[in-house]
Amino acid sequence: MWPLLLALLTLSAFAQDTEKDLALYVEMFQLKALKAPIKKNEPLRKLGLRLFYDIQLSGKGNISCHFCHQQGAGMGDALPLGLGEGAEGIGAKREQLSGVLLGRHSPSVFNMGLDGVNTLFWDGRVSKNAKGWITPEAGLNGENPLYADIAKTLDSPLAVQALFPIANPSEMLGQESKLTNIQAWRAAEERIFNGKFKATYAQMFKAAYPSETKFNIGHIANAIGEYQRHTFLAVETPWDLYLRGEKNILPLEAKKGAVIFYGKAMCVNCHQGDHLTVFGFQNVGTPQIGPGTKDGDDLGRFDITGNPGDKYKFRVSPLRNIALTAPYMHDGVFKNLWEVIEHYNHPMHSLMHSSFNYEGNSYREKLVKDDRRETQMARAQNMANNLPRMLGLSDEEKSALWCFMTVGLTDIKYQQNLKGVLNENPRCNPVLIR
Ligand code: HEC
Ligand code: HEC
Repeated sequence: MWPLLLALLTLSAFAQDTEKDLALYVEMFQLKALKAPIKKNEPLRKLGLRLFYDIQLSGKGNISCHFCHQQGAGMGDALPLGLGEGAEGIGAKREQLSGVLLGRHSPSVFNMGLDGVNTLFWDGRVSKNAKGWITPEAGLNGENPLYADIAKTLDSPLAVQALFPIANPSEMLGQESKLTNIQAWRAAEERIFNGKFKATYAQMFKAAYPSETKFNIGHIANAIGEYQRHTFLAVETPWDLYLRGEKNILPLEAKKGAVIFYGKAMCVNCHQGDHLTVFGFQNVGTPQIGPGTKDGDDLGRFDITGNPGDKYKFRVSPLRNIALTAPYMHDGVFKNLWEVIEHYNHPMHSLMHSSFNYEGNSYREKLVKDDRRETQMARAQNMANNLPRMLGLSDEEKSALWCFMTVGLTDIKYQQNLKGVLNENPRCNPVLIR
């Protein structure tokens, strides 16, 4: 009787400590829930929906955004590395066939249209500043862009992003294509405005932009942006509800995990702010696999800035709905969140020794990790100063951290999709679905 009572007392004392610690972190880091975007142009969103699924946006009429960003795969494709034009199938069911093995993992597109998200792609190559857009296409950039008609139409970084898969030979344009960006965009305009569904689109563009008569690829991109902004949302997670005052909705195990995230594990060194990132760039020593961007290597942010300090840096990832978007990192090297946690527990060991086995996917060539040893060394040497080199997390702490990311950060609408993974951690209770 007594030992049991004692155990119960200490347990609840622990629980209280957790509550207190978490409240302290929320205050200290001024954490706030995310907010859904307010303004919505429904005809524009509908137009975007149609375009997101329209293969006419691709050079050979064989691929749409949806092929690589699929609902059932957490808005990615659930593959470590994306498969480009020439591959067949949708999302995780893609088969490589004659398709290009892309150098990077297809990221999820949740929350990419929210306030505060001004930097897109793993290397942040689309963003904006006070002067205008910053993109890989000089003709769109700065105060007086060459393609002013397009640049002045674009309404958000998310819209700007949509231009680039369309003009990318490996993704949507067609592997053999030699068109420049602007030629690829003009050709896409032609297929949408004068193609098979000309009349339907004419009506839809008119409804979406009642005061305009001339349309270009910028209008197309805005619509795709508006669709993603209002459709792929994760702002009702137990974590957001907790931050809005529903203190009991977050399971205790997830609260413990949050305390570790902001405390012992120092994830907050980089994953700060309301999105759990402020979209800066860091090198966390992610092991490189696959073709990379050049010769099997991927220098990340360096390729955009040319600044040697940026070698191997990638954008600090936002983490809402993260449990739905495996595999992880810019090259999809980690199969699940346990592997991500193991990585952070001892990054150098993970970089040099993590076993890597992607049996059972549809790649022509096997993805192997060990042939990258030289570049892994270079990554190791440039690892972030604020990345703890050894966390020493216990199994209980790993479980809690996993629970915070899995149950805590998954939108209530999608908690049912966690059924499969929750078996992996009996300590982590699901949240009731409303
Ligand atoms: C062939 C697969 C493929 C297709 C088709 C594709 N994407 Fe992607 N998408 C990717 C990959 C891979 C990346 C990451 C590339 C990088 O960061 O270098 C990406 C990145 C993105 C991002 C940035 C997300 C972030 O976290 O910054 C958005 C948004 C996005 N895609 C939307 C779209 C839209 C809209 C379309 C259609 C116009 C599209 N994608 C077509 C594979 C694809
Ligand atoms: C030094 C900065 C830094 C620290 C500390 C850090 N992260 Fe990250 N995190 C990043 C960067 C940068 C990426 C993207 C890396 C890449 O793509 O190779 C990332 C990616 C991730 C991803 C994968 C996101 C995706 O969409 O694939 C998860 C999950 C994650 N971090 C969780 C954590 C957790 C949990 C901790 C604490 C144990 C942590 N991070 C600590 C910078 C950091």
